[in-house]
Amino acid sequence: MSTTRRAFLAGTGLGGAAAGLGIGVDLLTEQNSRSAAAPNAQIGFFGEHQAGTTTPTQEHLQFATFDLVTESRADLRTLLRTWSAAAVSLSRGQPVGPLDTGPAPPGDTGENVGLGPSSLTVSFGLGTTLFTQRGRDRFGLASARPAPLVELPAFTTDALDPTLCGGDLAIQICADDPQVAFHALHNLIRLGSPAAVPRWALAGFGRTSNSRDQTTPRNLMGFKDGTNNIMAEDRAALDRFVWARAPESPPWMYGGSYMVVRRIEIMLGAWDATSLTDQEQTFGRHKLSGAPLTGSREHDPVKLNASTNGIPTIPAGAHIRLASPTYNDGHRILRRGYSYLDGIDPATGSASGGVLFICFQRDPRTQFIAIQRQLAQNDALNRHTQHIGSAIFACPPGVLQGSFIAEPLLA
Ligand code: HEM
Repeated sequence: MSTTRRAFLAGTGLGGAAAGLGIGVDLLTEQNSRSAAAPNAQIGFFGEHQAGTTTPTQEHLQFATFDLVTESRADLRTLLRTWSAAAVSLSRGQPVGPLDTGPAPPGDTGENVGLGPSSLTVSFGLGTTLFTQRGRDRFGLASARPAPLVELPAFTTDALDPTLCGGDLAIQICADDPQVAFHALHNLIRLGSPAAVPRWALAGFGRTSNSRDQTTPRNLMGFKDGTNNIMAEDRAALDRFVWARAPESPPWMYGGSYMVVRRIEIMLGAWDATSLTDQEQTFGRHKLSGAPLTGSREHDPVKLNASTNGIPTIPAGAHIRLASPTYNDGHRILRRGYSYLDGIDPATGSASGGVLFICFQRDPRTQFIAIQRQLAQNDALNRHTQHIGSAIFACPPGVLQGSFIAEPLLA
């Protein structure tokens, strides 16, 4: 630990408090360490799969969904062509239009000038209503709707706010710089107008990890999030659980994925007043090390059959038990969620925030929906959370140079 940091901890009394709480100084340092984000790091827009699916999760998120006010398929093509071209520029850290326009408004809002691409990715999703809206086939796409793109069923614990749900189209923007991510959203909203009207949007930080190269970060409840995720390096698991393919998906979706998004509020005030033992039993993991209750290190195997004095060491309602492949016919999902903050909860005076839970999978019917049914029944985490927003999207495969997102579908 640096002298400056030691002096800072001593000055604030935190060093002493840490010792009193039994927290090693190394742990404090580890919690705050993050790999330095490289402003010039670039992730190409073109490829077999959309960037932003298995890309090691960047630090910041801007997520938005849009409703279409046009019923013209030609307008939809133009919109997706314009957004794709803009995504190419944005991923290179370039403006989406001329900046030096004299008497005319600039073609780009300009707040990313000098910031670099910061590993920005823009990923697009197509909502159920793009294919059929209240029985209407606005764009002649109803017969092309993939079978896995179902409406999410109601779950017993849902407390959904319709203004935080759905959308004809979704844009997921991730970057290592918050202003670079915001700039992308700002300009994509501008370029989408008037055909696409934003429906809901949310900024996120503090991602779930999905790469062996990443240290597992902590969520707002203080637990490491992403330990047992599908890792971007695990090609066999990606092929089996993430990429859309035959027989359930149509050819235009091969190499794409289905994205489920849930806005999950965490009752932070009540959680903060919960004993550490109770917190750890809720997840089935130790808070500081991230180890399962049956181990001592983060990546130790989760032993669901272990018991102490005849009682399961990982409780029956623990989140990692009910979400595990063992309890879900072997199914897994690729989680890529972010924390969010939304002001102060006037009822409790605590921070109002939670998780924008985002996951990718080959077929939500056997993956997210089956797992969430299980969790909604018995997950101990339900006492501390509420699902208030929900959406599902088909994310087409990646774009080849000269093409644009979903072009094969709209041909
Ligand atoms: C506020 C909401 C949630 C929080 C804070 C949360 C947090 C966590 C944490 C801390 C872990 C253990 C570490 C890890 O393996 O990443 C975990 C595991 C997991 N969670 Fe969640 N989670 C939430 C909601 C959900 C939802 C809605 C689902 C899916 C429907 C889900 C699916 C999973 C899965 C599949 C695992 C891995 C289980 C395993 O195989 O060990 N989580 N979650």
